[in-house]
Amino acid sequence: MISPNSIEQLLNAVVVEDVVGDYVNLKRSGSRYKGVCPFHDEKTPSFVVSPTMGIYKCFGCQKGGNSIQFLMDIDNLSYPEAARTLAKRYGIELIETGGGQDDSEFREKQKIRESLQAALDYAAGYFEKQLQETEEGKTKAMPYFKERGYTAETIRKWRLGYSPEAWEAFTQKAHLDGYKTEYLEQAGLIKKRDNGSYYDLYRNRVIFPLIGVSGKMIGFAGRKMSSTDPAPKYVNSPETELYKKSDFLYGIFQAKNAIKKTDKVYLTEGYTDVITLHQAGIENAVASSGTALTPNQIKLIRRFSQNVTVVYDGDKAGIKASLRGIDLLLSDDLNVRVVPLPDGEDPDSYCTRLGAEGFASYLEQNEQNFILFKAKLLLQECGDDPIKKSEAVRDILQSVACIGDSLKRNAMNRELARVCETDESLLAAELGKLLRNKNLKDEQQVINGVKKATAAAGVQLPKEPLSDVYVERALFRLLLLHGDAQWDEMVTVGEFIMKEIREDEELLFSDEVCAMLASQIKFGTLEKWPGATYFVQHQDSGIASWAAGELSSGYELSSAFADNFIFVKTDGDNYKNELIAVFRYLRRKKLDNLIRHYTNLLKHPEADVEEVLEYLNYLNELKSVLAKDIGGVVFSV
Ligand code: GTP
Ligand code: MN
Repeated sequence: MISPNSIEQLLNAVVVEDVVGDYVNLKRSGSRYKGVCPFHDEKTPSFVVSPTMGIYKCFGCQKGGNSIQFLMDIDNLSYPEAARTLAKRYGIELIETGGGQDDSEFREKQKIRESLQAALDYAAGYFEKQLQETEEGKTKAMPYFKERGYTAETIRKWRLGYSPEAWEAFTQKAHLDGYKTEYLEQAGLIKKRDNGSYYDLYRNRVIFPLIGVSGKMIGFAGRKMSSTDPAPKYVNSPETELYKKSDFLYGIFQAKNAIKKTDKVYLTEGYTDVITLHQAGIENAVASSGTALTPNQIKLIRRFSQNVTVVYDGDKAGIKASLRGIDLLLSDDLNVRVVPLPDGEDPDSYCTRLGAEGFASYLEQNEQNFILFKAKLLLQECGDDPIKKSEAVRDILQSVACIGDSLKRNAMNRELARVCETDESLLAAELGKLLRNKNLKDEQQVINGVKKATAAAGVQLPKEPLSDVYVERALFRLLLLHGDAQWDEMVTVGEFIMKEIREDEELLFSDEVCAMLASQIKFGTLEKWPGATYFVQHQDSGIASWAAGELSSGYELSSAFADNFIFVKTDGDNYKNELIAVFRYLRRKKLDNLIRHYTNLLKHPEADVEEVLEYLNYLNELKSVLAKDIGGVVFSV
């Protein structure tokens, strides 16, 4: 156990914004810092660090605590491990006493992790030594690296190494040094033969250590040195407790500070690309290790910057393959740019050819927006064929539809219309359709997921959650489709809805199109129901494409709604029932959101408790009024 006194001393010494800042791009905001939460997916920052309190807190996923907790959460460390890591960094001596009541299973796992880590650390040192100090390494591997143009400094920075040709060189040395077979095998360093003896996984290869985001050794890649060698080019660590290929970006530890500083990351494909770029002073480069990007890799990137520039190999096949993965980046609201390289070049070869300065200015001058790049590439291939051309445009619009931010999306649409020499409103209408299908699909996926999970658990949920965006969209869809119809003798549906929106202060919209429309209704330009065509011709192309999409797609009551609301089906004016149901659902949901938000705020050390409580009371009152007032429509919320 670590003595409470030394924990206190430690926490007084650590600088929370530095500890968190190693993992999160923090921006100062008043007396605090804000950033995108590393623990859950989010687009707008709700992660706050308070230097005066020495804590972090995410208002989105509720994770929070002090610096020790942060390291435990982010690096999967145990409490003592996290405390020791910090103590080392801040030069504090921890007083540890024996005993302690740790959970034995946890300790067991921890022991395995620590043993794996020790084996990997040992191996890294061994490979380095083979390269730097043995005759075999100096004559076989060192010339290979020199041939690639690596300086001695680069070789040390990346801890490059060499694994000798003999079958059991490492196995024997590791045993001699007391490392257990069990852990060496689990770490993916040695393999068992049929006869029960062991041999080295890496033989006669140069070694690229794989270092995790926090600087720990997590695995290795061994590259063959001769192109005539028929063996595979790389032998990689197997997946272990510490190395998950799909979570890893090569170079992230060495690049993270430069990525934060430049607010930009260069994404390449290979280990050697990263090393060469860093040597050329471009230290914000990482590699995806030859696979299509995964969601976890994207999450890792997002911790440090939202600006990604993809520098992939210059062959057509490579570019085409990478185009697909990149839609993933777009839907995560990253700004994606591309630098195309000449045919047959990769970042490594081209940087070496042009030299550091030449390549840096090449990157600067040839960087282009990803979607426009894709558009040009696809359109080039169509020639004058109108059918191919419209297919290509649709393909490109799929990428545009992935952009979450409607302002960016609209700007892109405008730019595309110019590049494709097409009418902007045509593109907007087409985009509207795609967006609508996409939203419905996403929504349906969520609903299906919930259904499956509850069925599997044997639980009957009384209600199925519909997302805010889904219900908001439903409301405005009703406005658009039935705005002209009469609500009663006095007002049209359009006027009825607009009045309700105007008068409800708690009804805050999160969907961008809906929020835009609502603010026009509340604060100005939309006083009277202007008719559906007004929206189709709207100067904001987000609204115009939404309206075009809704109107052109023929309205059906979606099954999600049918499941959530029980209507008396009457032909003709069913929209009235649906409208009431949607309003009530929305109000209830928005109130719940607000109540949740302010309840959490209460826990925050800097909250004005009295004021928050008063507002919470008011919200709860509203809610009870809403719950009693069920009226003519039955809904199962
Ligand atoms: P050089 O050809 O030496 O410049 O290496 P490179 O790292 O640029 O290799 P390449 O462009 O062929 O491949 C890009 C990335 O894909 C590599 O860095 C590896 O991560 C991965 N890769 C390539 N070949 C293999 C292989 O045979 N096995 C495995 N596991 N990964 C490979
Ligand atoms: Mn290469």
